[in-house]
Amino acid sequence: PQDLERYLAGRTLILLSNREPYEHVRSEDASAEDGIALRRPPGGLVSALDPTMQRTRGTWVAWGSGSADRETAGEDGRLMVPPECPSYTLRRVWLDDADVEGYYLGFANSALWPLCHLLLQHYETRAEHWARYHAVNARFADAVAEEVARAPGDAVVWIQDYHFAAAPAMVRERLAATGQKAFIHQFWHIPFPPPDILRLLPTEAQQGVLRGMLGNDLLEFHTERYAMNFMDCVAALVPDVQMRREHRRIHFEGREVHVGAFPISIDVARYEGLARRAEAARRAEQLRVRYGANGATLGVSVDRIDYTKGIPERLRALDQLFEEAPEMRECLTFLVVATPSRSELASYKALEDEVLASVAAINARWSTPEWTPIVLFHENIGAEELAAIYRAGDLCLVSSLQDGMNLVAKEFVACNVDEQGVLVLSRLTGAAEEIEGAVLINPFNVDGVVAGLREAIAMPQAQRRARMRAMRARLRRATIFDWLASILARVDELAPPAAEPLPR
Ligand code: F6P
Repeated sequence: PQDLERYLAGRTLILLSNREPYEHVRSEDASAEDGIALRRPPGGLVSALDPTMQRTRGTWVAWGSGSADRETAGEDGRLMVPPECPSYTLRRVWLDDADVEGYYLGFANSALWPLCHLLLQHYETRAEHWARYHAVNARFADAVAEEVARAPGDAVVWIQDYHFAAAPAMVRERLAATGQKAFIHQFWHIPFPPPDILRLLPTEAQQGVLRGMLGNDLLEFHTERYAMNFMDCVAALVPDVQMRREHRRIHFEGREVHVGAFPISIDVARYEGLARRAEAARRAEQLRVRYGANGATLGVSVDRIDYTKGIPERLRALDQLFEEAPEMRECLTFLVVATPSRSELASYKALEDEVLASVAAINARWSTPEWTPIVLFHENIGAEELAAIYRAGDLCLVSSLQDGMNLVAKEFVACNVDEQGVLVLSRLTGAAEEIEGAVLINPFNVDGVVAGLREAIAMPQAQRRARMRAMRARLRRATIFDWLASILARVDELAPPAAEPLPR
């Protein structure tokens, strides 16, 4: 926090993300004022950025959805948050159904998402989707430029994620037109693909994405590999650039664009604290008695229902394990948390149906009067309950087919306060490049997943403990606050503050 204080002195942060940090929703709840309740999204990103925004008193620009959001904001979409201690501005940008269809469900989630995750069978491209994405990015860029104009001190614009690939160049253009200055940077929360994959975008969209991202002064990815993929795409697809790969620097339109790896993390103390509560210990014990009695191994997995997470592949591996190792029957129970996500898209809905059908089929095939192999939590689970589930797990299986980082792996390690759990982790996650001590698997190779599960189940107690201790020690040194500090330190290095620190 001290470092953060130093990096933020004299600066005003203008943040742009698709999801908002405070959402107003209609509610029948008796405590809701005028039938409107406030929802705070549970994600780690908001929990790290919200206190930072409170300190810098900047502006967070995001998609305002629903009528309750409109009623609680001013005419210009602005309101002060958090409600209990108003200290920064939330600026909501309104999208209509056609915008959501083209920008969010369309280009962001049916083109960029599958391409970045290298899952081409889900890739769909439509001219209308790109046009909407471009138009919506332009509206967000307008809002950001307006907020920069209001900002006292040096403005730093920080853009989040693949929803806004086109926005950085647009923000730069608008600021240049009005003679304003700001440092512009972007964190890309998902993988970045190599050129052969990005080539699958129609030329206009492909150029719009790359040139849009080159509007940044600094681009942050989770891993060196994604950062290098971005540089390779620029080298292959954008004419007239020079680059110094060894310096992670691109010379474009007379400016330098810096690129770097900044692996994201979680609020480790918060998860650990949740898992250490007496209530979590009780709940974990209850789960163990109910599902892991008589020394049975308790496996856990936690995901949004998304085709990148390898949920059907994981279920196939469990089915095969019970088939080829009869001694595992009644000795391994899996708690599968699978939360519905992006259900408006046909591919997500179809996946949800497939997961439900596979779980039912496996349970019908192997259940005995005393034992059900898979216990499905098909819902959104709060952080307290999640921490108890992680604490109860003897092993956690992350089988993503491709994943920018995968925070579930880190959450499991933070919550495994009894230090007896084994992490079985897909090699195809950013986390696998950082975490040492997991059993690594390739989710496409079902035989290998089965072997990894058997290795984890058979791992001697002392080895489990040693590995988990080492993973926990390392995680404590790399929390989401360290991630944030390392990015702000890089911004500070590239653009030292010109203005005197503002009185807070
Ligand atoms: O970076 C991936 C991401 O957009 C996360 O920010 C978010 O938690 C997750 O995917 C869920 O996505 P959505 O906002 O589409 O529900």
